[in-house]
Amino acid sequence: MSAIQAAKGTRDIFAPEIHAWQHLEGAIRDYYGRYLYQEIRTPLFEHSELFSRGIGDQTEVVQKEMYTFRDKAGRSLTLRPENTASVVRAAIENNLFEALAPLRFFYIGPMFRYDKPQKGRYRQFHQFGVEVFADDAPQVDAEVIFSAVDFLRGLGIAQVQLELNSVGCPNCRPAYLKVLRQAAQARSADLCEDCRRKIDGNPLRIFDCKQHACAGIAAAFPVIGDHLCPECREHFAAVREALSWMNVPFLLNPRLVRGLDYYTKTAFEVTSGQLGAQNALLGGGRYNDLIRELGGPDMAGIGFAAGMERLVLHLEHLAAPKPKVLFVATADPRWLAHAVQLAQVLRSEGHPVYVDYQSKNLKKQFKKADRIAAAFTLVLAEDEVRDGAVSVKNMATQEQVKIPLKDLNAWLKQNT
Ligand code: HAM
Repeated sequence: MSAIQAAKGTRDIFAPEIHAWQHLEGAIRDYYGRYLYQEIRTPLFEHSELFSRGIGDQTEVVQKEMYTFRDKAGRSLTLRPENTASVVRAAIENNLFEALAPLRFFYIGPMFRYDKPQKGRYRQFHQFGVEVFADDAPQVDAEVIFSAVDFLRGLGIAQVQLELNSVGCPNCRPAYLKVLRQAAQARSADLCEDCRRKIDGNPLRIFDCKQHACAGIAAAFPVIGDHLCPECREHFAAVREALSWMNVPFLLNPRLVRGLDYYTKTAFEVTSGQLGAQNALLGGGRYNDLIRELGGPDMAGIGFAAGMERLVLHLEHLAAPKPKVLFVATADPRWLAHAVQLAQVLRSEGHPVYVDYQSKNLKKQFKKADRIAAAFTLVLAEDEVRDGAVSVKNMATQEQVKIPLKDLNAWLKQNT
């Protein structure tokens, strides 16, 4: 029978890579705890409308990448392609605006996008992200951005580039979009079919086009930075100033538009030169209208999400901490009960212990102990059981010592 393979764009994660994931997840909880962020876990699927309204009908994510299906009752549901809309929904639905303070969340979990798989890009991928619901003080933007860069630095990922832009607000963006549309219309014959479609729908998306010719043409289009209203301009200047207090270097990218439509004012991305084509490690920005648009209070928000597969690619050099594994071997099945009880005691003391239940000859058990990289094999044979002791074989040096059970714990404390 032919073997069944994992679905395209999905992957299994296991040792040794899983150690990098565990390290990363621990680091997220530890780091963001220091800023009073609380973990939030939202469902993996939501009503499709949440994403079409939240992310925007005109985005690639909503138009092309969502896993949408009908459940048996005919409801349209979608596997979450991102988590900002879900966190906002959860906060509104559970009235967290009243219940929790400060309103700062982090999340870790799988997202789903029908994207073209390649290295660093999957159909089921994992994000860790943060969302802060507060006023729109520019120092909040700077703190969130600082935390992203500082967190990466703490992981040892220092060769990164922070790109920054302001994408304006509903006061200034419509006038800018008009100017942009005119410029795009004038060059429409030279743009790709996809970009031509974007002119009416959302011309900002033209800046995302990866086609060389379109990127060249878009380089001459007007940029939002020259069309910001005074409020957005001042906000952006204050964000940059606060970033300089925090010693965070950044590159202004006036064509950074992000792929989701809820952004207002600050938008940012962190890229890594080590990743090839899929070089965005994380991206985010401010979304001052999303909470109200999804039925919540008039409250501003800001956040980012990082692709965990991409972070892990940077962390694979991390040596997993190697606990000293103990292997309990028995010379005869008669001593299995002793072996099981010994293992229980040792595990309760915190040692990782493997018991071999096959009780084949000791030579085979030593071989197996080597295969699982045990540091010590604890042998129970007639003599040991009679004397209330165990023989401990150091698998690296092959030295063996007989230790009374009452002294074993102290001995292991010294030697593991
Ligand atoms: P995003 O830019 O769509 O933003 O995704 C954030 C990060 O997720 C990307 O920078 C990338 O590292 C990773 N990512 C996206 N798609 C894939 C994929 N197919 N395979 C692997 N990694 C991927 C958001 O999702 C926003 N919700 C971020 C945000 C939070 N904005 C405000 N708050």
